[in-house]
Amino acid sequence: MNWDDTSDAAEDSAEARLVGADADGEDQAVEAALRPKSLGEFVGQERVREQLDLVLRAARQRGATADHVLLSGAPGLGKTTLSMIIAAEMGAPIRITSGPAIQHAGDLAAILSSLQEGEVLFLDEIHRMSRPAEEMLYMAMEDFRVDVIVGKGPGATAIPLELPPFTLVGATTRAGLLPPPLRDRFGFTAHMEFYEPAELHRVVHRSAGLLDVRVDGAGAAEIAGRSRGTPRIANRLLRRVRDYAQVKADGAITQEIAAAALAVYEVDERGLDRLDRAVLGALLKLFGGGPVGLSTLAVAVGEERETVEEVAEPFLVREGLLARTPRGRVATPAAWAHLGLTPPPAAAGGGAQQDLFGG
Ligand SMILES: Nc1ncnc2c1ncn2[C@@H]1O[C@H](COP(=O)(O)OP(=O)(O)OP(=O)(O)O)[C@@H](O)[C@H]1O
Ligand SMILES: [Mg+2]
Repeated sequence: MNWDDTSDAAEDSAEARLVGADADGEDQAVEAALRPKSLGEFVGQERVREQLDLVLRAARQRGATADHVLLSGAPGLGKTTLSMIIAAEMGAPIRITSGPAIQHAGDLAAILSSLQEGEVLFLDEIHRMSRPAEEMLYMAMEDFRVDVIVGKGPGATAIPLELPPFTLVGATTRAGLLPPPLRDRFGFTAHMEFYEPAELHRVVHRSAGLLDVRVDGAGAAEIAGRSRGTPRIANRLLRRVRDYAQVKADGAITQEIAAAALAVYEVDERGLDRLDRAVLGALLKLFGGGPVGLSTLAVAVGEERETVEEVAEPFLVREGLLARTPRGRVATPAAWAHLGLTPPPAAAGGGAQQDLFGG
């Protein structure tokens, strides 16, 4: 398995794009201000909320430290937010670090040995931690103990160090990359799903209230429908629509204002942005709907292969607009319809599409 993730660059650019490449200080401050602070304020994810509520409530009743929690799910679904809520609900302090920041076991030992009893340690991007640190973490999670190695070579000795009980909250966008021994040491794993439009609708209303922006039901629905099932995107689109409403109208967000604003920012009715449409457009117009290799497609839109694969494709696949096949990328009939194009007779009448989609 590939532990030193080769797609860091793509992941970083995905993050940059999802939080908005324009994410300035103001945007980041706003994002923090919009974070729900308690489970009750956290919108949607009913099952995860219910399960987590039980885990935390039971630990509180026993006067114990909560079990380790693993949060997995796509970017922007609320993993960092939930980790802070876990600490808040337990009345515990939280220490925040991330996998890439822990390259040596010593880095981890230093953090672990300075934890207070009951403290929450949030380890973001836990799948990107180095192997030696990971092995140290196994023991820390299970036995609340680490072995600190003193000296070098044959004379090196391991000195066991007791740790106070703590709660590890790990977050990952790729649960599949976690080695099973690590995954198994979490007492509770929450898999976060994409949000339903009705849930995003509530996120938009809640955020609008906090930002003191007026939005009517249809305006909120328009934003929610273009947010790719992701609260972070809903909040970001809301801020851009707010800007538009303020400059071009009286500040209130209606369906017309939201639609006009999002047209300016090139986010279409389904939530596709400029890159998504470029990929789909190239696939349809230059390659007749495919199949075409990923590298060729990437060159055609002037992007890195990883960017197309990690940033644009997951959403296009999820929307049923694009399929990954052994012979390459293929557009679905829905893709032609979405871009308002007519499939060429070859694609409509036979060949690969016929086999793939039974049409
Ligand atoms: N359930 C929710 N209810 C309301 N707002 C939410 C919810 N989940 C997330 N948000 C909002 O979305 C933003 C992004 O959430 P968060 O930073 O927790 O995502 P994440 O899963 O940690 O993403 P990443 O994988 O990129 O780190 C937060 O600022 C928060 O305001
Ligand atoms: Mg996060």
